[in-house]
Parts: sequence; C-alpha cells; structure tokens
Amino acid sequence: MKVGIVGAGMVGSAAGYALALRGGASHVVLVDRSAALAAAQAEDIAHAVPFAHPCRVEAGDYAALEGAGLVILAAGVAQKPGESRLSLLSRNAEVFAQVIEGVQKAAPDAMLLVASNPVDVMTEIALRASGLPAARVIGSGTILDTARFRSLIAGHLGIAPQSVHAYVLGEHGDSEVLAWASARAGSEPVARFAAQVGAALTDEVRARIDEGVRRAAYRIIEGKGATWYGIGAGLARIVQAVRDDQRAVLSVSIVTPGVEGVSDVALSLPRVVGRDGVVATLMPELAADEAAALKRSAELLKETASQLV
Ligand code: 2OP
Repeated sequence: MKVGIVGAGMVGSAAGYALALRGGASHVVLVDRSAALAAAQAEDIAHAVPFAHPCRVEAGDYAALEGAGLVILAAGVAQKPGESRLSLLSRNAEVFAQVIEGVQKAAPDAMLLVASNPVDVMTEIALRASGLPAARVIGSGTILDTARFRSLIAGHLGIAPQSVHAYVLGEHGDSEVLAWASARAGSEPVARFAAQVGAALTDEVRARIDEGVRRAAYRIIEGKGATWYGIGAGLARIVQAVRDDQRAVLSVSIVTPGVEGVSDVALSLPRVVGRDGVVATLMPELAADEAAALKRSAELLKETASQLV
C-alpha cells in the first residue's frame, strides 16, 4: 500500500521511519510545506530501508499522493512545555482546511489517519472537510495512551505489555479515562492477576499509573520539546491493521453517533480496525466513576468542536 504523510516534522517522519522498519508500507511519500525538510527526512529514512523491509521512501508535493490508500495527517504545531493539546485547536484547524483540500485533489478516496493535536477535534474537522464516511477518517486518539497504560501495568506486574489488555478511552488529552474495570492481564482481571503475583494494585499504585499515563506527554515535552517515537509506532500499527485487514482491536478516535448520552462526538473507544477503516466499536464494561468520566470527556470534546461551527 502507498502511504502518504503530510507534515514531515518529528511525528510525521517518526511514522515514516516506523513504517519502513515494520514493513508497513511498500511506498511512503512525505509532503511538507518545507520541501527541503520533506526531502531530507525522506532521504534519511530511505537509508534505513536496507536494514529493514523493501520500501520506496520519497518526498513530493500533494500531486505525489495520487494512488495513496491512506494518508497520515501530521501537519500543524505541537505543544510547548505546559501547554494543553486543546489550546492548539485554532492554529491547527486553519492549517487543516488547506491540507485536506490538497490531499483530496490527488487522492480523493484515501483513508485519512489524523495525528495532529487536539487529535479528536482535528478528526472531526477532517471528517467534515473531506466528506468521507466516518469509518474512514480515523484519529490516532488514545492509541498512545493505551500503550502507556499497558506498559505501566505490565511493569508493575512484571509481565510483557503485550499480555495486558487495557484501554484508555475518551479524549486523547487531560480528560481521558483509564478503563481499569475492564483491564485484563492474560485472561484475568488485573486486580486478580496482581494479587496472585503478590503485586497488589493499591490505590497508590493506581494513582501512580494514572499520573504516569495522563502526564506522560507533559514530562516528555519538558525534557525534549516534543513526543514522536511512541506516536510514530502507533501510527504505523494502525496503518498495518488497515493494510493487512487485520481487524485488530485498537483504541482510536472516530466521530461516534452516541457515547454516554453525547451524540456525534470524536473520541476513542476500542475499535476493530481493518481494510475499510473502523468496522466495529466496543463499549467496555465501565465502573460508575469511569462512565461518568467518559461522559465528561465526551461533553468537553463536543463543546470544543461546537465552537468551530
Ligand atoms: C502525546 O501524547 C503530545 O499528544 C502527544 O505524546
């Protein structure tokens, strides 16, 4: 599959690099308003290909996206230290109108994979501007928060993150919800697994993990200015689920008809992802406080998106 990436900054280029390393695409095209940046990133990533899987990596303009099955949208500004994702909205919404027009001229049917923040609202903007079906305009959403959640639970239990099935729901941002009630380690509820291995999930441990997930981006941005490796790998993971019609269950964002009484809002839930995009959505079993937090997150996103009209 040919994959386009618009925005060759750290996130876009990390996605291209992860795709090349994972063998997630046969052809990657990087587009940026700075042609020099796109060319430099593409050349650098291409030099990793002999150590990875066959893949053509090049830079181009929008016209070079012709024939792409999926385009990653990673254009726009990123947070400064201490800044929230939602504060980026007006700046990135402006950029997106032109980006989507450029992409659709060359690749009108390409699936869109939105990475720019605030990713849930940007996904809704991309849906409205593109006129594509909601299932084909996917935001990376909480794929990364879910990875952080699984890693921290796994670290506490002393097992592989791949053996932890736990999801972060709602906004990719401050109001996100860690779904503890449905979290499993192997086939067991995490609390039962934790008791069996003598690593109880006390309130203190849960609070530490919650903080570790929710504040991860703030810490990383404080230390190195931005985050890119985790999200780059997450984007490549979503592309592979689409390319290989894997029907993988991933927490990603699409505009969803109804969540906790809130209608037509883009947010993350565990969703089945395959060749046609999101083919099913799951609603995990939630504790009462988790359901209330998901409702608040959905209301916040709905309210933020409504200010755009
Ligand atoms: C992250 O969570 C900043 O949204 C980006 O790493």
